[in-house]
Order: sequence, then structure tokens, then C-alpha cells
Amino acid sequence: MSDNAYRLISPSGNEIELPVRSGTTGPDVIDIARLYRDQGVFTYDPGFVATGSCESDITYIDGEKGVLMYRGYPVEQLAANSNFLEVSYLLLHGDLPTSAELEKFDHTIRTHTMLNEGMLNFFKGFRYDAHPMAMLSAVVGSMSAYYHDEMDASNPEHRDIFAHRILAKLPTIAAAAHKLNIGQPFIYPRNDLNYADNLMHMLFAVPAEPYEIDPVAAEALDLLFILHADHEQNCSTSTVRMAGSSGANPYSAIAAGISALWGPAHGGANEAVLTMLEEIGDASQIKKYVEKAKDKSDPFRLMGFGHRVYKNFDPRATIIREMCHKVLDKLDREDTPLFDLARELERVALEDEYFIEKNLYPNVDFYSGIIYRALGIPTSMFTVMFAIGRSVGWTAHWREMISDPKGKIARPRQLYMGPAQRDYVPVEKR
Ligand code: SDX
Repeated sequence: MSDNAYRLISPSGNEIELPVRSGTTGPDVIDIARLYRDQGVFTYDPGFVATGSCESDITYIDGEKGVLMYRGYPVEQLAANSNFLEVSYLLLHGDLPTSAELEKFDHTIRTHTMLNEGMLNFFKGFRYDAHPMAMLSAVVGSMSAYYHDEMDASNPEHRDIFAHRILAKLPTIAAAAHKLNIGQPFIYPRNDLNYADNLMHMLFAVPAEPYEIDPVAAEALDLLFILHADHEQNCSTSTVRMAGSSGANPYSAIAAGISALWGPAHGGANEAVLTMLEEIGDASQIKKYVEKAKDKSDPFRLMGFGHRVYKNFDPRATIIREMCHKVLDKLDREDTPLFDLARELERVALEDEYFIEKNLYPNVDFYSGIIYRALGIPTSMFTVMFAIGRSVGWTAHWREMISDPKGKIARPRQLYMGPAQRDYVPVEKR
């Protein structure tokens, strides 16, 4: 018996050994790969609450200590010193770039932001009020129809081209969806603008007059993209890995990730937070809504609170809350009542026994929507902004998964609770 193993006594009394594996940091894992073959039983973990699905070098989270690291760098340091494009290089390639590498990467992204002109026809087919997340997942999925030429997943150069196209073109697609929603003409990207400036330009410029980018707004956007860039095996990232594990076209896998992110329990929460704050209206209603959130018979949950992993503060929420102050002060926006309401809701909730006992703290989505709104971005576009930041994390995980020589198609099992075998009854006898 090795000393680094768990021993299990089966119901029939025989002892089995399950090897333990340790990572660079964080909890050990029990390797159950042979359990079914040796013992004929599955493990059972709905929602994969306690299941490690893969090995990964990309992101580390410690939910108890509120730690988030991208390739070993604490997100606080990256937020204070880096920018989204440099963080994207780090996530995709594993190390911070030299200045020459960063310059080359920046040039590559800037010069791949345009869409195949034929893709713009999709937007003519959507209703003007189509949800931008529906348009984003549809148009990103269509990239597998336009860019199937250079997509041999076993070719590292093709994997780089795929990453560059996703990173470069998502803001253009997102802005096109927004322009459709507001009935304005599509604005082409500009190669002389950096990532966040270009997105602001495509979202808010109009052909009729020059558009001046607010540096505070662009800086806030870039920081939000850093904070949303990756988050280990979250729902949408696991979706990208699972879809990609069958060998599906990676653009389709990213489109699947976008769809998973849309849910209000996941990336759709930032949109749901604003809707919730507007429904609460003012501080006098906070107690009522906190009670609703605690009432098991009421489906209402406090959006932007709670997290599968962070059972203490979400480090991103702390950084975003501080940025809220700066953005609202600098932009002199009238949204401060909304921010004041959010702060009061946070204070009341964090003093409530239920939230304390269940370790429910504000997560990344609680404050981000307030900033997006202060930047003039409509609520329906909030999850699209999340997707732009997370696109590099999805891509980095797809690359890691597809490059794994031991990789296999993801195919979980189940605990079957359906009917025992029974015989067909002809309709006349039913
Ligand atoms: C993101 O995974 C990631 O990393 C996600 C993300 C990322 O970067 O990719 O961080 C981004 O998705 C953040 C989460 C955004 N979602 C929301 O803000 C929606 C509201 N939050 C909840 O839906 C919930 O907290 C989840 C989905 C986020 C987490 O749910 P879990 O881990 O499955 O926990 P749970 O649902 O089992 O809740 C545990 C208890 C339950 O009570 P009991 O059954 O034990 O009595 O806490 C309660 C829940 O009812 N609870 C809440 C609550 N969240 C959990 N009660 C009221 N309001 C809430 N928000």
C-alpha cells in the first residue's frame, strides 16, 4: 500500500486503494479513474461541486482565502500593473511577454479586428430587439463556417490563429449587435486604437460626428476585461472544454461557452443585478428583498451574491467596488443612487445571519453592471462584455485541452433512477 493513497472498504469488505495526487498548490485530488473498472461503481457529484475535471496550468482560485492567480500572478498585481492584452498573452502562452513579443501580439490583434464582410449579413436577419447574447453566440458559431480553412487543431500555428481571431473579432461582433439594437450603422474597427478604445469607438461612435474616447471609461473597461479573463473550470469554461473534447470546431466550442455564460446563475448575473437593483428601487425596500432571498419558498435570490468557490470575498468584487467610486466620481454620472443602493444592500446582507452562515458575499457580477451602466452600456450588453473578457480564458483552456496528449472526450456517467426494464404494450391495449 503506498503511503499517499486513500483506502476504501467496499461493502463486500475488500479494501481498495485510491491514489492521491498533489498540484502546485491547493487541495489534493483522489484519482478515481480506475474505480469503475476495478469496483463497478461510479462516484456521484451533481454539479461537480467537489470534482476535479482536468489538470490545468492556467488559473488558480482559493475560495477560502479569496485568491485568484493567472499563471501564478495574483490578479491584484495584474489589475494594478498590466492591461488586458498583456494578460491575454500571459493566459494564452503561460508567461508575461517581452516588449517585442507584446508589440507583435498587439499588432496581430489590432490587424485582425475586421469581420468577413459576409458575416455582417447575419445582423440583417436578426430582429432589431434580439438579445445581444443570442446574436453573439450565433455569429461566433458562424465563424466555423468562415474560418474552417486554417483550423487543424493539431497545428500549433492554427491554434494561435484561432486565438487571435476570437480575441480580435469578439469586440467587433459585440459592437455590431449593439448597433443593431439601437438602429445605428455598424462602425468599423480602427487599427490605430488599442483594445478598449477600439471597443468604445465601435459601440458609441456615429458617422455624423467625431467621437472622443473617455480615458477613464476605457481604463475601467480594460480593467474589467482583466478581472473577467479567466476563472478556472467555471460553467462556461467547462462547456468549452467539453464541446472541444469531441474534436468539434473550436469556434463552435466558444459559441457553446457563450451560451452557458448567458444564464443568470453565471455570467447573466450582472444583467440580473441591475434589474434587481431597479426593482428594489430604494433603501427602504432592501430588508424586504433580503427576506425574500432567504425564503426557500420564494425563487428570488440576491443576484450578484454567492459563489460556488468563493466562500469568502471574491477578490474581483473588491477591486471592482473600488473602481466604481473612481468611475462614478470621474464621469460625474447620475447613477450614484444606484451605487449607493448597491453599497447599502451589500452592508445589510453582510450583516444578516443567513448570508453570514451560508458564506454569501458579493461576487464579480455585483458591481460590474454599475460600471458598465456608468459607461453608457445598456443592461442587455453586460453579459456580452463579460464574454469579451472571458473569451481569452475559454481559448486558453481549449488550447490546453486540445494539446493534451492524454486528452479524451468528456463523457460523465449517471445514477439511473428511471423505470426498470418493461415490455412494449401495443397502443390498443394501453
Ligand atoms: C459567476 O464559477 C465561477 O467561477 C463563476 C464566475 C466566473 O468568473 O466564471 O465567478 C462568474 O457566475 C458568479 C456567480 C454569479 N451568479 C449570481 O450572482 C447568481 C446568484 N448566486 C446564486 O445563484 C449562487 O450563489 C451560485 C449559483 C452563484 C452558487 O450556487 P452554489 O454554489 O450551487 O450554491 P447553492 O446554490 O447550493 O447555495 C448554497 C446555499 C443554498 O441554500 P441551502 O439550500 O443550503 O439552504 O446558499 C443559498 C442557496 O439557497 N444561496 C443564496 C444565494 N446563493 C446561494 N440565497 C440567496 N441569494 C443568493 N444569491
